[in-house]
Amino acid sequence: MRKKIVAGNWKMNLDKEQAQILASEVVNMAKDELPTDVTLIMCPPSIHLSSVNGLVAPANNVFVGGQNCSDKASGAFTGEISAPMLQSYGIEYVILGHSERREYFKETHQELAAKVDISLENNLKPIFCCGEVLEEREAGKQDEVVKKQLDESLFHLTAEQFANVVIAYEPVWAIGTGKVATSEQAQAMHKAIRKMIAEKYGEEVAQSTSILYGGSCKPGNAKELFACEDVDGGLIGGASLKSRDFIDIAKAY
Ligand code: G3P
Repeated sequence: MRKKIVAGNWKMNLDKEQAQILASEVVNMAKDELPTDVTLIMCPPSIHLSSVNGLVAPANNVFVGGQNCSDKASGAFTGEISAPMLQSYGIEYVILGHSERREYFKETHQELAAKVDISLENNLKPIFCCGEVLEEREAGKQDEVVKKQLDESLFHLTAEQFANVVIAYEPVWAIGTGKVATSEQAQAMHKAIRKMIAEKYGEEVAQSTSILYGGSCKPGNAKELFACEDVDGGLIGGASLKSRDFIDIAKAY
């Protein structure tokens, strides 16, 4: 059975007090409202990870993830944080390959493969982001773009390693734009990704991999998206910064 997962990518938002308030609201609302078969993940900026993790009790199926980690374990890499550091704080997940990091920080497929490896070595579950830009979608190249992202950064893993990976399909043209993918577009790509996984690792692994949708997912469209056969949840940006919206999305199955 695939895990239903709703993860919130806070990106570079919220000060100390605002982070504490949001995390406390989410945890308290989850206690009363989170469906028992849904895993909820909050991914705050690194500076808030320790304090937010201190508010989360895994027993309530609420977890914390990082938004990135270095491909190195330690050393002279000013400003970076490492997978061992995340693991030492009991952090369970880490977003890798977000389109904003690929664009602004020029993350390569090879660098992301190394980040996936060191995350798995440190018992972190990667939430691996993939997706095409508008020009690639308009040219009908979305499948080949995503296939390359998976081939270059994930498909070197063994089936056993891959079992710890969560995929997040995020059409770049839908991120932060309000232009959410249609359920037909989302289902088509999720089905294609699941087929790619099946061709590499077999049907059992493909059917047990959670594939999340990200890109302007809101309370008003989550139900239709999550009703798609191959959509197992969402990676939520803006709406994860509002506790009511984030929980409503987590309830939208
Ligand atoms: O990682 C999730 C994020 O890229 C989606 O952002 O604001 O469109 O939900 P948003």
